[in-house]
Amino acid sequence: MNMPLKHSADATTAEEGLAIQEEQAKFDSKSATDLAMQNTLLTPRFYTTDFDEMDAIDVSSVRDDWDELIDEMVSDPNKGHFKKNADWDQVDWEGMDPALRKEFIDFLISSCTAEFSGCVLYKEMKRRGTNKDITQLFQLMARDEARHAGFINDALREAGVAVNLGFLTQKKKYTYFRPKFIYYATYLSEKIGYARYITIFRHLQAHPEHRFHPIFKWFEEWCNDEFRHGEAFALLLKTDPKLTSGGNVLWIKFFLTAVYATMFVRDHQRPAFHKALGVDPDWYAHEVFTKTSELSKQIFPITIDIDHPRWQPTLRRLHKANVAIAEAKGQSGLAARLRQATNSARAALAFVSLYTIPAKKHAVPATTRLEPAY
Ligand SMILES: [Fe+2]
Ligand SMILES: [Fe+2]
Repeated sequence: MNMPLKHSADATTAEEGLAIQEEQAKFDSKSATDLAMQNTLLTPRFYTTDFDEMDAIDVSSVRDDWDELIDEMVSDPNKGHFKKNADWDQVDWEGMDPALRKEFIDFLISSCTAEFSGCVLYKEMKRRGTNKDITQLFQLMARDEARHAGFINDALREAGVAVNLGFLTQKKKYTYFRPKFIYYATYLSEKIGYARYITIFRHLQAHPEHRFHPIFKWFEEWCNDEFRHGEAFALLLKTDPKLTSGGNVLWIKFFLTAVYATMFVRDHQRPAFHKALGVDPDWYAHEVFTKTSELSKQIFPITIDIDHPRWQPTLRRLHKANVAIAEAKGQSGLAARLRQATNSARAALAFVSLYTIPAKKHAVPATTRLEPAY
């Protein structure tokens, strides 16, 4: 057997964690890596940015909160957590309903790519930076994301698939985002990640009969990592009040709408997965949006009005348009191309309709830091 001696869960840096994954990459599969390589509106992307501008952030205005958060991350409460132990029940991949199996593998590959996307971006910031506060934070976050991605890949390997992370780093396309867009998008993806993981975890705590895979048992500590990452981005945003006021509020609204709409459409593509969890995807979306909105009030002066009469029906229209686009993409001929164009226009209109729902305004608290409360 060619098993590595050390596990990525015990790695103390992203580099070490990735080297361990690299060693296993010879067993990884092309189909999973191909899926992770896709760049569509709905698949996780890799990002690059102006690292010098990010390196220049001065955190002295939030120093006390910053040091407290960094100390917590340095104490590394989740070291060694992300590996299989006695709680890892045997998974019957062969006996799993084929539709569920397909959707669940798709979910794991997409989650692994998203975790790894964070790792790659954070690791690069750490490598390029000279600002001690910034490089230390990004090194700690890259460490966590490498563990998360590695753990999902462990789960995938049991199903005979896994993502070749080294290959992705080199070959996947990188999308450039200016730093302020990285802050909005990453802050939100960390907080919505927390809300997603904790909502599933609490639901399965109450309904353990729906826990069809052991990885869900790890979600509570997992989401605490994401919570801390979100806190770090909230503090980074706090260092420059311009980022959350004036015309930038329109950008915040754009990212809130885009992140929520993407989650809704992506989740509604996995009906068998949600049925197995015993979760209604509409309920789940509303629950996750409610939690994320409540959390994002710590730094954003607006939240999306998810109870507005236009919100839910328009999300459904967006979902339907996306299903039609995906179907048309799989077909050839002029009619299919026309259907693709019409539905792309429908999706764009639906997004504009969501974006123009009046936002809810509120005062941002003087102190930013929050503790996980769900
Ligand atoms: Fe993560
Ligand atoms: Fe994270």
